[in-house]
Amino acid sequence: MIGRICGTGSYVPEKIVSNDDLAKIVDTSDEWISERTGVRRRHIAGQDTVVSMAAKAAGRALENAGISPEEVDLILLATSTSNVIFPSAACSVQKEIGAVNAGGLDVSAACTGFLSVYQMGQAYIQAGMARTVLLIGAECLSRLVNWEDRGTCILFGDGAGAAVLQADASASCLQTALHSDGAKGWTLTCDSRHKEGAKDLSKDLSTYIRMDGKEVFKFAVTKVPEAVREVLKKAELSVDDISWFLLHQANIRIIESVAKRLRLGMERFPSNMEEYGNTSAASIPILLDEMNRSGKLERGQKLVMSGFGAGLTWGACVFEW
Ligand code: UT7
Repeated sequence: MIGRICGTGSYVPEKIVSNDDLAKIVDTSDEWISERTGVRRRHIAGQDTVVSMAAKAAGRALENAGISPEEVDLILLATSTSNVIFPSAACSVQKEIGAVNAGGLDVSAACTGFLSVYQMGQAYIQAGMARTVLLIGAECLSRLVNWEDRGTCILFGDGAGAAVLQADASASCLQTALHSDGAKGWTLTCDSRHKEGAKDLSKDLSTYIRMDGKEVFKFAVTKVPEAVREVLKKAELSVDDISWFLLHQANIRIIESVAKRLRLGMERFPSNMEEYGNTSAASIPILLDEMNRSGKLERGQKLVMSGFGAGLTWGACVFEW
């Protein structure tokens, strides 16, 4: 038995920061940012935290699925930006939404986080250890961004997305791939703000997101098509069988390059980074929720999801909607 997604939800903070707003604080322009990345705006948390955003997205996903919080067996929450070390964000969400029968844990896999919790949720269901799993990707990246670094601050945004995965005897298609390369970890880093011996961490630039953009770009456009081909081969499917390719929303040029390498047009590669920027683990479930609520997803369609990011980590999966 495997799981099928039966409901989705998302939440983004109200506050919007446009490219023109950023041009007032760093040397950049709307033209540069939108041409090089596809991002025009991003939503930034004010009072919101990873937990509050995750709980709102989760509540909406349960409502969309028509499932009560008590039915949830497990909450898997992908995040790299929780403001607390413990209790885990998943346990705080469990309390917020009243999922009194659920276990919960956080998963740290950066922008590959949602793909990772999807795969874990499927493994729990396949092993018979859970029937209903709440998958969440939630990030508050604005707190880790160096707002004086134009190479990174233009990219990121805050938000959360969630999906309910439930055991379904009629679901059959599922293949996954997950990879990491710790040797390339240096290309995208952010040190903990709990460093031993450190005094004023607000001045320690290693505690902000630092990135070799070109290296990460090259990695993404090489590894994502490989992972997509890997899962399609395992599933004995071709790209023509896939209705939608839901890729992590990092940069529109990465998505265009992946589509080109798979010899496809952009029609089946939806994107929303124009509105939200790169929300790391939240980007795929926010996109999935938008696609679901706008009626673009039909039961039986085959979808590919692919995440990639810090670690380095990457992977893909193919499944039936
Ligand atoms: O979730 C995964 C996380 N990360 C990613 O996926 C990021 C992947 N990488 C990227 O998206 C791109 O590398 C960036 C958007 C970060 C940068 O684009 P790029 O085309 O690789 O630009 P670059 O770093 O090569 O910089 C080109 C020029 C440089 O100026 P010079 O040396 O040519 O004079 C930069 O200083 O653009 C300059 N630049 C900017 N100019 C205006 C860098 N950032 C900006 C900026 N505004 N915000």
